[in-house]
This record gives sequence, C-alpha cells and structure tokens, in this order.
Amino acid sequence: MVSSLEEVNDIVKKCKKCNLCLNRNNTVLGVGNKDADIMFIGEGPGADEDREGEPFVGKAGKLMNQAFIGLGISRENVYITNIVKCRPPNNRTPLKEEANACLDYLRNQVMIIKPKIIVLLGNTALKNILGDEYGITASRGKWITKKNIKYMPTFHPAALLRDESKKIDFWNDLQLVKKEAEENNLKI
Ligand code: URA
Ligand code: SF4
Repeated sequence: MVSSLEEVNDIVKKCKKCNLCLNRNNTVLGVGNKDADIMFIGEGPGADEDREGEPFVGKAGKLMNQAFIGLGISRENVYITNIVKCRPPNNRTPLKEEANACLDYLRNQVMIIKPKIIVLLGNTALKNILGDEYGITASRGKWITKKNIKYMPTFHPAALLRDESKKIDFWNDLQLVKKEAEENNLKI
C-alpha cells in the first residue's frame, strides 16, 4: 500500500494503465493541502492542466477560483483532483475503462488525505464515484453520506461557462459546503 501522495505521484507519472498515457505532456495528480478536510473532484485535465501539471488552472479553474474567493474558500486549505490524471484527447469525457483504470489512484488519495467532505464536480465525478444511477441535475445540492464521507454533487465549472444560469446553483451548493465546514470546524 502506498502511504504518501509523493509515492502516488511517482507511480502516476510512469503509469501506462490506459491509452490516455499516449498523448499526455504531464500527469496531473492533484493540488492543495494533504490534510484537507474538503476534496474537490473534477473530470480530467484539459490543455492548460496537461501543460502545467496542475488541476483547474485553465478557464474553468479561474471561474472556480473566483467562486472560492467570493465564498471564503482557500485553494491552499482544500485538495483538488480529477477522476483521470491524464488529459483525454479534445477534452472528451473519459471512457469507462479509462476512469476504472485510474480510480485506484483516487482511492489512494482519499485514503491518505481522509477528507470529511467530497465535492463532486459534474456527472463524470458523480457517476464514477457514487454510481451510474446518479445524475447531476437531480442530485446536485443534496448531501449524500457514504462510509463517513459527506458528498456534495454540483455542476462542473465548465458547465457554468456554457450556461450562465447554472452559476447560482453552483454558488448555492458551495454555500452548503461552507456552512457544513464551519459548523464542524473543518479547514476551508
Ligand atoms: N476540468 C476538469 O475536470 N479538471 C481540470 O483539472 C480542469 C478542467
Ligand atoms: Fe494511468 Fe490514469 Fe493516466 Fe490512464 S489516466 S495512464 S490510468 S494515470
């Protein structure tokens, strides 16, 4: 069993478990606090993330950062990662087999960081973590508790760039996260 994020990162950097290894420039494990109480899970790296090796640094990430600033969530206090650690070509949704091949790394990250709250950003995160029976439109904004972790599904920030009307829901969902964190003295 791997016991540190550095070890996971060393393995991921060399990983060839799925075809997404073929076109990557950098693997993107995650960023933030290794003792975070709150973890954010997106879909997979885009072009900017593939270039920089860090999640959510492109357009969607900038929008998320703005929301964090508005809400008083610190990018340094939380941990941010994705379902797949290598960029899918043309930013397509990761295939089931790619997500499945990569999920062990995410499980390792969760075991090491031990978050109390996991925010699932969009359908890819929601379905791969909680199951295909879930859908983001019906599930967003409602807590789902499993094995002592509270999950909050919400829209992916890229969805807000396509449809401005989703911004208010995203904001309200993150307000619920903030309230829960404050009530339980969690790092935020
Ligand atoms: N979209 C994601 O799902 N993850 C990133 O890291 C960037 C954009
Ligand atoms: Fe390995 Fe995940 Fe990259 Fe696929 S996406 S090559 S499983 S690290």
